[in-house]
Amino acid sequence: MAENQNSKDLYMIIKEKYQRKSVAGQLQSVFGKEIYHYSCLESTNKVAYLLAKKGAEEGTVVVADEQTQGEGRGDHYWYSPQGGLWFSLILRPRMISSETSRLSILGATGIAMSINRLFSSLRVMIRWPNDVVIKDKKVAGVLVKVRAERSEVTFAIMGIGVNLNVREFPSPLSFIATSLIRETGDSTSKERFLECTLEELENLYCSSQVNGRILLEKARLFSSLLGRQVEVVTTGGKFQGLAQDLDEDGGLILRLESGLHKKILPEEGYVKERSPKI
Ligand code: BTN
Repeated sequence: MAENQNSKDLYMIIKEKYQRKSVAGQLQSVFGKEIYHYSCLESTNKVAYLLAKKGAEEGTVVVADEQTQGEGRGDHYWYSPQGGLWFSLILRPRMISSETSRLSILGATGIAMSINRLFSSLRVMIRWPNDVVIKDKKVAGVLVKVRAERSEVTFAIMGIGVNLNVREFPSPLSFIATSLIRETGDSTSKERFLECTLEELENLYCSSQVNGRILLEKARLFSSLLGRQVEVVTTGGKFQGLAQDLDEDGGLILRLESGLHKKILPEEGYVKERSPKI
């Protein structure tokens, strides 16, 4: 594993916040209590996975300024130059593996809520299952990896990529991707954005362990698909229909032309786009 280079001088804003809370005796948050910050990694997901295997605590974050082999959904490469926020969060959810589908939706909803909180004028949406988009262009994505023994989850790695201060994208990404700097004209502090996103993620994570409907209600608010005719591509074929609802597993409920309903889980499919997928 690469040397942990900068964790002492960067992301101190978040760490100091925890220390202040701790002194005041109110320490509750765990997401971001431990942050490993690197200037360059192949992939934060890989490092987080190794740390989790060695027993790193829930809430530990691995962040890199740049990734050389960023991993996207479905074995896609994730473009991760300097300027973006690329991080992975270690989770130890009390779930069985069949329940982990909802973690992708949780990640996308947390990012959308964070963008909404920091940039209320932007219309941020979630293109099921886990693309965070602005004006139909992808601004962030989530990739969840789960390790389970029998059906019990030992840990999950939630990898999050946010095109924060990325000014240019190579073709063909330039047609389908955007960034917060492109949409707002201003650069955003990575530390501030990370802090805000971790807060939103932790609130959602804790509340959804008590009541799964809370996550669902938030996810519905940001969904770009509900009420629209869509085509979903799955390994079992393409399905066209009305995107009617999301369910507690993070599944999309399609009403097919035949009138029958079909549920598609996040890991089973994606919504067909006119341009190629990132
Ligand atoms: C997607 O395809 O939409 C998911 C993209 C996830 C990218 C992030 S960047 C940080 C973390 N490390 C990786 O290698 N991938 C995820």
